Amino acid sequence: MCGIVGIVGTSPVAGRLVDALKRLEYRGYDSAGVATIHDGVLERRRAEGKLFNLEKRLDSEPLAGLTGIAHTRWATHGIPNETNAHPHFVDGVAVVHNGIIENFSELREELKAAGAVFTTQTDTEVVAHLLARYIRDGLDARAAMLKMLNRVTGAYALVVMFKEDPNTLMAARSGPPLAIGHGRDEMFLGSDAIALSPFTNEITYLVDGDCAIVTRDSATIVDFSGEPVQRASQISLATAFVVDKGNHRHFMEKEIYEQPEVISHALSHYVDFASNRVSPNASAIDFSAISGLAISACGTAYLAGLIGKYWFERYARLPVEIDVASEFRYREMPLSPTQAALFISQSGETADTLASLRYCKDSGLKIGAVVNVRESTIARESDAVFPIMAGPEIGVASTKAFTCQLAVLASLAIGAGRARGTVSAEQEKTLVRHLAEMPRIMSRVLNLIQPQMESLAREISKFTDVLYLGRGTSYPLAMEGALKLKEISYIHAEGYAAGELKHGPIALIDENMPVIVIAPHDRFFDKTISNMQEVAARGGRIIFITDEAGAAASTLPTMATITLPNVDEIISPMIFSLPIQLLAYHTAVFMGTDVDQPRNLAKSVTVE
Ligand code: AGP
Repeated sequence: MCGIVGIVGTSPVAGRLVDALKRLEYRGYDSAGVATIHDGVLERRRAEGKLFNLEKRLDSEPLAGLTGIAHTRWATHGIPNETNAHPHFVDGVAVVHNGIIENFSELREELKAAGAVFTTQTDTEVVAHLLARYIRDGLDARAAMLKMLNRVTGAYALVVMFKEDPNTLMAARSGPPLAIGHGRDEMFLGSDAIALSPFTNEITYLVDGDCAIVTRDSATIVDFSGEPVQRASQISLATAFVVDKGNHRHFMEKEIYEQPEVISHALSHYVDFASNRVSPNASAIDFSAISGLAISACGTAYLAGLIGKYWFERYARLPVEIDVASEFRYREMPLSPTQAALFISQSGETADTLASLRYCKDSGLKIGAVVNVRESTIARESDAVFPIMAGPEIGVASTKAFTCQLAVLASLAIGAGRARGTVSAEQEKTLVRHLAEMPRIMSRVLNLIQPQMESLAREISKFTDVLYLGRGTSYPLAMEGALKLKEISYIHAEGYAAGELKHGPIALIDENMPVIVIAPHDRFFDKTISNMQEVAARGGRIIFITDEAGAAASTLPTMATITLPNVDEIISPMIFSLPIQLLAYHTAVFMGTDVDQPRNLAKSVTVE
């Protein structure tokens, strides 16, 4: 997703703006730009591709100026090139934008009819033209900004610089996040607290419908009618974390290997290791008082929710309705205030998930958020927040956030079972003990399978299609394995319920499509073995991910067998995530793709 930064400073800003953009790189982008005002002149430098290219431009053509804005663009309208890169200039107005201006076509035609000359294919340019027109009509910057905000529709975070007013930045939010950073005689604007963390930790988050007028020593916030609104500032928890990979080649590899550590952080927040009980932090929603649970999320977070559904239904006997957020609210499913809703999101800013949250909130449900960013919009709009404690996840492909989401959901499901009387105290202790074993087992598994997954990845990188199969909680895991592989190696992959093989996918089976079977030796093992026999009988090549008991029980020929320790069902999804993450990672490395920032993808999708 796009990243926005602005500074009204007391020292040159161009270099600081680019440094702040580096902290937003993880969001994914395809071009970047920076603009400043100096001696009454608006100037900009833009470049296609990575920030390195923009830095080279600035080295050869430096920008002076104490006020400036900058942007990393993830293309929605118009190809990713320098022309379409932000900031957009029209006369003495400079604009950076994250989101989508939904009525840009109508506005573009209206402006062109009035003589405006467009130079880009972007929706953002209409904002600059509208503002320039209102300034020409004699409005001051603030009036022009408010008039524009009442004309455009859609989802947007905007920061605007006016040549006439070099000591002010104007900002507005309607959807994607935007925050003010309070400095000493300097003020900052940014898409999130991480971008602002090198400058300040005193943050004021704008909410939808806010317009901010920011000078070196003040930040005035009004609504779109110009009425003042009060927004409290807070001390951000986002540290100026060192954005480095340690001794790993990619953030994704680093984050895969961080899992034992961050899982223990997550568990320590939700279980009491001394008593093997679920802690009160898991009871921010009273699960004994609800009739059912709705879960909504996107991508990997959705697949974590799908596994959580199995747990809530099995251990807490709670009916769970789940759907991907982009479908959830349009189904208009009957909802009741006696239900609760859980929204799972690493970034806490995913537009579809946020829209589903607001849909459930309007229906009177109690809202819970399972998030990695405690100050995120989804967290701030929830009644109960369940942080996953994974630490910043930079790789676009979610890994440690996924297993931490699972650890939290497992804790919540066990706690819900206790509250509803469907899990006994003894069962709770047993289940929590299994959870507590995870960090140790994960460390052991990562060291155990790394060489095998790297060599297997070399084989997989030669194929164009891969099928993942699983039953029970291994079925969503099969879909997660497919998602990991396709999103970073660009190899087509599908995850299927193993029992569905005969209902269609078996037609695909031949030696050109490896079949990865995820099968711990659990209640479903024998049936899954039958599916494997169906694959083998048709010349299919099987990669068997199982445990010691499963490996001993099967005599089927395989392309490879990855044998993990025998673990309880409550933690097998987290443990079996490791081989599928490593397989996807090493395959992508062999394919030479951009592992941490795969093509076309963004870390946080803040547009619907
Ligand atoms: C997962 O590897 C992807 N990066 C993507 O599917 C992601 O899980 C999805 O966009 C949801 O993001 P969120 O957890 O920040 O809401």
